[in-house]
Amino acid sequence: MPMLRDRRILITGGARGLGRAFAEAAIAAGARVAIADILEDAGRATAEAIGAVFAPVDLAVPESIEACVAAADAALGGLDGLVNNGAITNSGGKGMADLDPQTWDRVMAVNVRGTWLATRAALPALRASGRGRVVNIASDTALWGAPRLLAYVASKGAVIAMTRSLARELGSDGITVNAVAPGLTLVEATEYVPADRHRLYVEGRAINRTQVPDDVCGAVTYLLSDAAGFVTGQLLAVNGGFVMH
Ligand SMILES: NC(=O)c1ccc[n+]([C@@H]2O[C@H](COP(=O)([O-])OP(=O)(O)OC[C@H]3O[C@@H](n4cnc5c(N)ncnc54)[C@H](O)[C@@H]3O)[C@@H](O)[C@H]2O)c1
Repeated sequence: MPMLRDRRILITGGARGLGRAFAEAAIAAGARVAIADILEDAGRATAEAIGAVFAPVDLAVPESIEACVAAADAALGGLDGLVNNGAITNSGGKGMADLDPQTWDRVMAVNVRGTWLATRAALPALRASGRGRVVNIASDTALWGAPRLLAYVASKGAVIAMTRSLARELGSDGITVNAVAPGLTLVEATEYVPADRHRLYVEGRAINRTQVPDDVCGAVTYLLSDAAGFVTGQLLAVNGGFVMH
């Protein structure tokens, strides 16, 4: 039987990159999917191309998150899963001395507060599902301490810590909460990453090759499925063995 048959899943940041790949994988596994993104044109085009529904959202704005989750809930007739994937991914390149507080605040608002608020907005639907699943997309940069990426790394460290507290808070509702930490993955958003950082990853992995979005889909699909029903509060690094924790 397909792993996600009839599951209703909302994936934030699904217009492109990893989020789009997770959406395609979930649909291939039998799920019905809503994708949400601040990129409205790209989000609608992706939704149409892959057979998902689209709900616009700005994860920096609490009311926008509420409206988005309500729209996804209504369109799918409930929610069994939420993938908190939407994030600001392009804040790197500056050392800590040159990072400006506005960038720091915006990254925290979207990546950390947005993850909390999306989970909170989805809570009644996930509770009603009886088999709710939350998958938070972290990053292995928070595990090895990537330099010149401080706001992002701090935000992903917070996502990992929140995953553990949320798992304890939501366990009695039958909801699991786990995190996936991808390594540097080849997508539009990482084209700006300098070649030496890409090389560091390829050479430092146990499996010495470039990471692509498909490499991460199995972990996300698994954590959304019945197979992971007793797995909660965990962090799964998917990075070809670059960081082992
Ligand atoms: N690609 C990598 O190397 C890598 C590595 C580790 C973790 N990640 C994580 O994977 C996830 C997906 O990243 P990606 O690599 O596909 O990059 P990406 O920038 O393409 O994806 C992020 C998505 O979130 C959306 N988004 C940004 N701000 C938003 C906002 N305020 N409201 C709503 N949506 C917003 C973007 O439009 C985009 O579609 C992110 O959480 C990222 O931190 C990526």
